[in-house]
Amino acid sequence: MTRLKRADRPYDVVLFGATGFVGVLTAEYLAAQAPEGLRWAIAGRSKEKLERLRERLPGGDEVGLLEADVADPASMRRLAEHARVVASTVGPYVKYGEDLVAACAETGADYLDLCGEPEFVDLTYVRHDARARETGARLVHACGFDSIPHDLGAYFTVQQLPEGVPLTVDGFVTADAMFSGGTFASALNQFSRGRQMLSAARDRARHEPRLMGRRAQAPSGAPRFAKEVGSWAVPLPTIDPQIVKRSARALDRYGPDFRYRHYAAVRHLPVALGGVAAVGALATAAQLPPARRWLSDRLKPGEGPGPEKRAKSWFSVRFVGEGGGRRVFTEVAGGDPGYGETAKMFAESALSLAFDDLPPTAGQVTTAVAMGDALTERLRTAGITFRVAATR
Ligand SMILES: NC(=O)c1ccc[n+]([C@@H]2O[C@H](COP(=O)([O-])OP(=O)(O)OC[C@H]3O[C@@H](n4cnc5c(N)ncnc54)[C@H](OP(=O)(O)O)[C@@H]3O)[C@@H](O)[C@H]2O)c1
Repeated sequence: MTRLKRADRPYDVVLFGATGFVGVLTAEYLAAQAPEGLRWAIAGRSKEKLERLRERLPGGDEVGLLEADVADPASMRRLAEHARVVASTVGPYVKYGEDLVAACAETGADYLDLCGEPEFVDLTYVRHDARARETGARLVHACGFDSIPHDLGAYFTVQQLPEGVPLTVDGFVTADAMFSGGTFASALNQFSRGRQMLSAARDRARHEPRLMGRRAQAPSGAPRFAKEVGSWAVPLPTIDPQIVKRSARALDRYGPDFRYRHYAAVRHLPVALGGVAAVGALATAAQLPPARRWLSDRLKPGEGPGPEKRAKSWFSVRFVGEGGGRRVFTEVAGGDPGYGETAKMFAESALSLAFDDLPPTAGQVTTAVAMGDALTERLRTAGITFRVAATR
């Protein structure tokens, strides 16, 4: 449970960016699944939009409403002072997110987001981790499809392997889904900031304490045919392997020498090559402002896949873990990864921070470190699969 007592703040959870694509889905999830007596509020920059949303939420009369704009740092402070847990969907985070993280670190409120932008996560570590440790605030980034299935999946896999020995885990992601305008905008923005991203990573490495007596690595693997899963494996340079590595650094259970590699799993080689070429082309185009503008006009913030497409979407992350003479195959799977399941993971993470009996942590922490067992259990109950497929 958060160090803040219920009496300290008017709301248990404040959802900032509630009127955006994932924000609305998260608000609907909270309204439908909220535990009895949850005190929560929706927050955003448009009062009219917030009122319209609240009117159509079941039990909306009980939901608070807070106006806040990222251009007004005082309003970020007010959000933090009103909540034990602030959940923000307002991205791209590197553009919009820092003042709210700073306010949470300063006031001791727990903070979570859907950030998959490595630059932002490194920057908040350098600037706000120390203060958050002092106030007791937990800063938990990447609480959606980036990176919960990978982080908790690797955590779950490690628990199936012997303790105290070197361990390796490979994760293979397969999904059939579409992304929203907000995700597209964040990805384009991050692609266009390669230099800043590297510089933030170097700065973080200078600040992060050395890991003594243990090793935790996430090297980018090479493309290969992975016969253990019967697919072509293409390295996925997302934030996920970095998050898994941070969990391994923080938790002794990952053993004295841990390695994680992260791949997209694709059945046919031409599809794998096409995917690599498409991402390469997007990353190149994002460097040129006119091409970036043209691309961002294709899918605008606020837009995203409709209910029919979301209902047919799915994801599966298969893990192969090895160590101490044992090999284990596990899987984390669910429905629409980017939106339906992201809203579920995000809302359950906020509830977990607010109400579960969690290990004592503070500062920038991963989902596995802050909420590992409790959140896995919540997500299982909410219909996400965590299973051991085979052991050898
Ligand atoms: N981790 C994951 O797997 C995952 C999955 C999905 C999305 N995401 C990330 O989540 C973020 C949101 O995605 P989305 O599709 O929901 O985006 P979206 O529809 O564009 O929503 C963005 C939200 O930010 C709000 N906003 C923008 N500027 C603001 C300002 N100046 N002050 C206050 N609020 C402001 C918008 O308010 P208005 O409604 O007033 O415009 C809206 O509520 C993106 O960064 C995306 O990359 C991550």
